[in-house]
Amino acid sequence: MYTSKITGTGHFVPEKIYTNNDLKQFFDTSDEWIVERTGIKERRISDAEKNEFPSTMAAHASKMALKKANLEANDIDFILFSSTMSDYNFPNSATLLQDLLGITNHCGCLDVNSACTGWIYAMTMANSLIENGTYKNILVVGSETTSSYNNWLDRSKCVLFGDGAGAVILSRSDNETSKIHKSILSSDSTKKDDLIKKTGMARKPFFVDKENPEMVEMNGQAVFKAAVKTMAHQCASILEETNTAKEEVDLFIPHQANLRIIEAVARRFEFPNEKVMINVQKYANTSSATIPIALNEALEAGRLKRADKLLLTTFGSGLTSATLLLTY
Ligand code: COA
Repeated sequence: MYTSKITGTGHFVPEKIYTNNDLKQFFDTSDEWIVERTGIKERRISDAEKNEFPSTMAAHASKMALKKANLEANDIDFILFSSTMSDYNFPNSATLLQDLLGITNHCGCLDVNSACTGWIYAMTMANSLIENGTYKNILVVGSETTSSYNNWLDRSKCVLFGDGAGAVILSRSDNETSKIHKSILSSDSTKKDDLIKKTGMARKPFFVDKENPEMVEMNGQAVFKAAVKTMAHQCASILEETNTAKEEVDLFIPHQANLRIIEAVARRFEFPNEKVMINVQKYANTSSATIPIALNEALEAGRLKRADKLLLTTFGSGLTSATLLLTY
């Protein structure tokens, strides 16, 4: 059996920024309200005129990852693309990304949608495909244009989200130190109605009422509580099942949805501030892109080095949750 290691990372965020104050043009809100409840100060918004879509943003991030991994595009032998919003119904965004990267080896391309947890789901699949010898270099991206389904009249939800893309190349490793130790994936369908977007898909293909479009539906307080509980539970389980002391964790990268959620989980493990990666203030919740973006920023800031232990955890619609422990 082989092991896998991260050989390259990259990220891309659109240039256009909506600060909390900018949102006042759409509805009654304030910087204080948003910062106090979420820690979010601004978010990036994709621009169709600049050709910013899930696949194109992912291409920018992936090119950076390929460069850092010192790999050619055709070295990629599988693409896993996590997104809550594909470029098209079909072909999938992974295939569009193959084209944008100039990959001509006809590698397999698969989209994954597990909402905000999709990228860790995809990393888990990629790790298994490397461990069993099927592939050598898998490109795993999370790329999201949440702004394309945000209802900009719904102040209780749209303030929470932003756009961006993160990419990681997971490669077969001959280094025993770097590896993925374990991941835990879960989904609690009894809470599926707590965070749901029904329109635009098979059951409701068109918006019935254009004046009052039904978009993301969310029970914010229930999601908040479930997020803290599930992420803390999964982190405790993964540490216990891998015989890892919480002090051994060098960097904790939780899903960037809400600063209060991040702090509540980090407090349970007494992780000091310098061990917790936070960028939610800059980008808001970019769904399945939050963790790969934060991972690349942590590396660029020198907060993570080879042989460090990295704990990643996330939650989202489903309600799903996913946690992964690796040695970088
Ligand atoms: N600006 C100003 N006021 C706002 C507002 C905004 N952007 N959005 C909502 N409000 C108002 C509401 O209308 C409501 O007013 P009312 O009481 O007069 O009806 C009030 O603020 C609600 O406030 P409160 O109940 O204190 O909100 P909260 O503390 O539960 O915070 C969330 C709301 C959404 C920030 C919080 O529940 C949360 O972050 N939940 C998790 C959501 C999440 O992370 N989802 C993604 C998961 S991947």
